[in-house]
Amino acid sequence: MAEERAQWTSRVGFILAAAGSAVGLGNIWRFSYAAGTEGGGAFILIYLAAAVFIGYPLLVSEISIGRATRKNPIGAFRTLAPNAPWWLVGAIGVLTAFVILSYYSVVAGWAFAYTFESLRGLYQPSVDHAEHFTKHISDPVAPILWHAAFMAITIGVIAMGVVKGIQRVVQVLMPLLFLLAIVIMIRSITLPGAGEGIAFILTPDFSEVTPLTVLHAVAQAFFTISLGMGAMITYGSYLRKKDPIPSSAGTIIGLDTFVAIIAGFAIFPAVFAFGFDPAAGPGLAFITLPGVFTEMPLGAVFGFLFFLLLTIAALTSSISLLEVVVAWLKDEHKWKRTKAAVVVGCAMFAIGVLPSLGYSVLSHVQAFEMNILDLYDWFATSILLPLGGLLTIIFAGYVWGARKLSEEANEGTGKLRFGPGMGFMFLVKVVVPLAVLAVLIAGLYEKFAA
Ligand code: PFF
Repeated sequence: MAEERAQWTSRVGFILAAAGSAVGLGNIWRFSYAAGTEGGGAFILIYLAAAVFIGYPLLVSEISIGRATRKNPIGAFRTLAPNAPWWLVGAIGVLTAFVILSYYSVVAGWAFAYTFESLRGLYQPSVDHAEHFTKHISDPVAPILWHAAFMAITIGVIAMGVVKGIQRVVQVLMPLLFLLAIVIMIRSITLPGAGEGIAFILTPDFSEVTPLTVLHAVAQAFFTISLGMGAMITYGSYLRKKDPIPSSAGTIIGLDTFVAIIAGFAIFPAVFAFGFDPAAGPGLAFITLPGVFTEMPLGAVFGFLFFLLLTIAALTSSISLLEVVVAWLKDEHKWKRTKAAVVVGCAMFAIGVLPSLGYSVLSHVQAFEMNILDLYDWFATSILLPLGGLLTIIFAGYVWGARKLSEEANEGTGKLRFGPGMGFMFLVKVVVPLAVLAVLIAGLYEKFAA
């Protein structure tokens, strides 16, 4: 007898799972260093516009495609367009999940390691944090073990199932994550000298903004809302018909943005209060912040809480990446969930060994001045996500069509509704495709022609 497809048992369960996917390393690690190097508040404003006008229509479309078909991304496109190769869009999503999770788990492993190191005297005045971080990531063995540990936990959650695994875990971890973020923010904004950091976020500096800033803000919106690769199609496929899509999508983006902004208010006031450089780049979370914790009263406690927060945020995202591939093998190839989780998780772990070694024995492997991890990240976020997002929105607006999209999106309780006419559909049919196409072209130009 066919096994019944799992469903989130409550609307909140779905929202927390999807917000858990959205809130991740992207909000804390990536968002803070992007805002720090690209004009602070100005970057944040552009990002907000991208989230509302591009992220929101795409999120509604992805959830609707998932719920209408109750399938993994490949199966979903195949169901809606059985006679055309649109299933390839789903296949791009599955491929993207492999690429992202393989290196995401490496960075999550760094955060995991730092959580424990915070308890073992990491914040001594004698420690040079830049040197310490470089030493940590350029060890050929230890980061791989942390990467393995993080992946093992991800596999464990997915093997337990949609409701007993994902939903149960996010219902505990997401409230904890919100709480931790708020505690750290309060500590940071009450430090003497925090005002400069607060001003950095609240006063936009448009002199640092270039057309590339817009590109990076849109790419950030894709990455942080988990769009363009079928994660939200997969989570939407477990959503009950009675639950509303338009308002839930708004809540998901709202929570995601809330955590990014809180992270900004947690990070920049402290960075300024202790005279560090906000434009430190990707090392901001791992080098600058430990420096801040070293100077701060009770720094070890706050350092531990911060890296715990980062690890939890990464876990609730990594499970959504693994679930995309597991759902495909389960639906289409009738694999057992546990087998799929273990096999795919191990494969992703293996692919992730390379970017980890890119800081040690493979550090000579470089392309376009990027090491292996940056290359994976660039390929996934500048090429695969915009490409997947572009094809998905074209599919939703023109192939599946505005009428069916709005019917599915409008199904369920809730007051917010979309007509099949203009308004929301103008975003779906015109604004999002053009903007994402521009991002894709600009991303290629940035690397190959500039
Ligand atoms: N949204 C996650 C973050 O901001 O860290 C990353 C991510 C998760 C991207 C899941 C894509 C995805 F499908």
